[in-house]
Amino acid sequence: MNGILSSVPSAYLSLGLALCMYSLPLASKTVGPEDIIPRPVKTEVKEGTYVLPGNDFSSVRVQVGDRRFARELSSMSLEPYQKDELYRLTIDSYGVKIEALTEDGAYRGRQTLSYMKSLSDTLRHCTVLDYPRFRYRGIMLDISRNFRDKEYIMRQIDVLSKVKINYLHLHLTDDAGWRMQIDSYPRLTSVAAYRNGETWQDWSANGRTYEPATHGGFLTKDDIREILEYAEQRHMTIIPEIEMPGHSRELLVAYPQLACTEEDGTTRVITSDVCPGTEATFEVLEAILDEVIELFPSKYIHIGGDEASKGSWKKCPACHKRMEEEGLSSVEELQSYLIGRIARHVEDKGRSIIGWDEIMQGGLAKNATVLSWRGVTQGAEAMSLGHDVIMAPSAWCYLDYYQDAPMHQPLAIGGYNPLRRVYSFDPADGIPENDRAHLLGEQGNLWAEFIPTAEHNEYMLYPRAMAIAEGGWSPLERKDFEDFHRRIIPLTDWMTENGYHPFDVRKEYGDRPESYRRVQHLALGCPVTYRIPFSKKYHGGGQTALTDGKQGGWSYMESAWQGFNSDVDFTVDLGAVKPVHYVGAWFYSCLGNWIALPETTEIYLSTDGENFECASTLTCQIDETGRRDTFFSMFGSPLNAEARYVRVKCYRGTKPYHGFIFLDELVVN
Ligand code: ACM
Ligand code: ZN
Repeated sequence: MNGILSSVPSAYLSLGLALCMYSLPLASKTVGPEDIIPRPVKTEVKEGTYVLPGNDFSSVRVQVGDRRFARELSSMSLEPYQKDELYRLTIDSYGVKIEALTEDGAYRGRQTLSYMKSLSDTLRHCTVLDYPRFRYRGIMLDISRNFRDKEYIMRQIDVLSKVKINYLHLHLTDDAGWRMQIDSYPRLTSVAAYRNGETWQDWSANGRTYEPATHGGFLTKDDIREILEYAEQRHMTIIPEIEMPGHSRELLVAYPQLACTEEDGTTRVITSDVCPGTEATFEVLEAILDEVIELFPSKYIHIGGDEASKGSWKKCPACHKRMEEEGLSSVEELQSYLIGRIARHVEDKGRSIIGWDEIMQGGLAKNATVLSWRGVTQGAEAMSLGHDVIMAPSAWCYLDYYQDAPMHQPLAIGGYNPLRRVYSFDPADGIPENDRAHLLGEQGNLWAEFIPTAEHNEYMLYPRAMAIAEGGWSPLERKDFEDFHRRIIPLTDWMTENGYHPFDVRKEYGDRPESYRRVQHLALGCPVTYRIPFSKKYHGGGQTALTDGKQGGWSYMESAWQGFNSDVDFTVDLGAVKPVHYVGAWFYSCLGNWIALPETTEIYLSTDGENFECASTLTCQIDETGRRDTFFSMFGSPLNAEARYVRVKCYRGTKPYHGFIFLDELVVN
């Protein structure tokens, strides 16, 4: 916390300086390689400038695979994938030269040049030697929850390729809509691409039903061919995701024969999970994947694998039979059976699967690549087992979380993941040296439940996607948030001028002001005893969280907030009998994340730790019904008493939506 406290003022100071410095070259309109994202490995800027004529780069000399250049590089210890994307860009009075070992490398050099040229026609004389830290730099777009069309996707490919993102993962299917033409199963689009409700929220409120020709849409195969060609020209791979066995309600509505049955063996139950017991599931999924594989050239085919509830499997006779026949002892192993079988099918076609990290449950399919989203430990474990991993832990890489103060932002799914935090992520942190060869890179994920429009989608993506791009490309020692922030501004200005809708970092409000201040009060540093334990996951600092003077930020995660998946009951020992004039705390509310205010809060005082008297009862006056935004409420009470022990009890009460209670810093004065 000291680090955070002390870094804030200096951050703003150096940011101010950086902005002044930036304004000089902009005023004289010269741009150099130090102005681009991702920050190149090595740059040397010289005296002089060069104006690149025209826009077609026809004057640029490009040399690919020159032997002398290859010999020059031979003393450098680089991985083959780094050599593939390596380039050297030279700008001098003779013009521009790009040298590379492959076409990929030459393209990366062109991207650097074109980025610089989009900021100014006048380029500084320089030499740039550049190659990526990781081979995989990805962004995921969720076009199921709210459909985005081919024009939207191609526009994002344009700008993402500008910052050397080389994988675009499309989440094509989910409960909220199937988004890809499949010829052998036309109901996937005629029925399941359209829903009753324009937005995801409307659809949820309307009972999650589907209705042909209402709200939605899908990509035709021709659309996809166009997107693929566009991406290929920009040296970007599109990874299609066909989600299974969970998040598949739309598939079951279109083809109910893939659903589990009740114990009677005939009545279908439409959950979100397909039935791994019936052969129809494999027949349909494999036929779908065959069409996907025929269309998409990507080596990787993403098959989902996350958040299957597996509830229907426990009762379904077909699932029971499958488990018996295959000697499977748990529903986790049943999931692993499905993923393993699908993985073999994909491999028979010469491709390999990526799955969300739950595919590890019950045994990980051979050759599967794991997309680690719940945290980094899942990815670390997969690497230790010899599997390739892409890191996308939600706490740093989820771009659907709030990027600034929730009350100043459009409604989001929750959390708080500002640019600085996304930028701070290092996918290799804590990974043993021996396992790092399996670390392919990192990815940012933009889930779209709460993102109804194209403009809003861009607003959530940018500039955080650029932090992922730099994290995936630039060497760790070249990463510097203040310098990155300086470079973000001209890029997002260019984007705005070109019709994009990025968040303006100059308007950033920043973290919750209370989180920067250490609060002084009577209970500071006093021991707390819990009659009901706090959540292990959301401990907020553990045993001392409520009296350490630190207060929570905008996020209940990775912060000082302490969570209870229960009522609350704890006692603070002030060390001696003292006058007590006030007891109170901040409470966190975000029904979307199952966090609600307590219905009642009671404050008890005692001088001996045995006889407690209720000094105050607070009843929640805030109606949270229908809300899902993040907000903060202070519950406290003026008192006039003497006490050594302060006991606080919070009751969840009878509200149907109650999950967690989160509070922070029990302030006693
Ligand atoms: C996920 O966020 N359920 C992968
Ligand atoms: Zn079943």
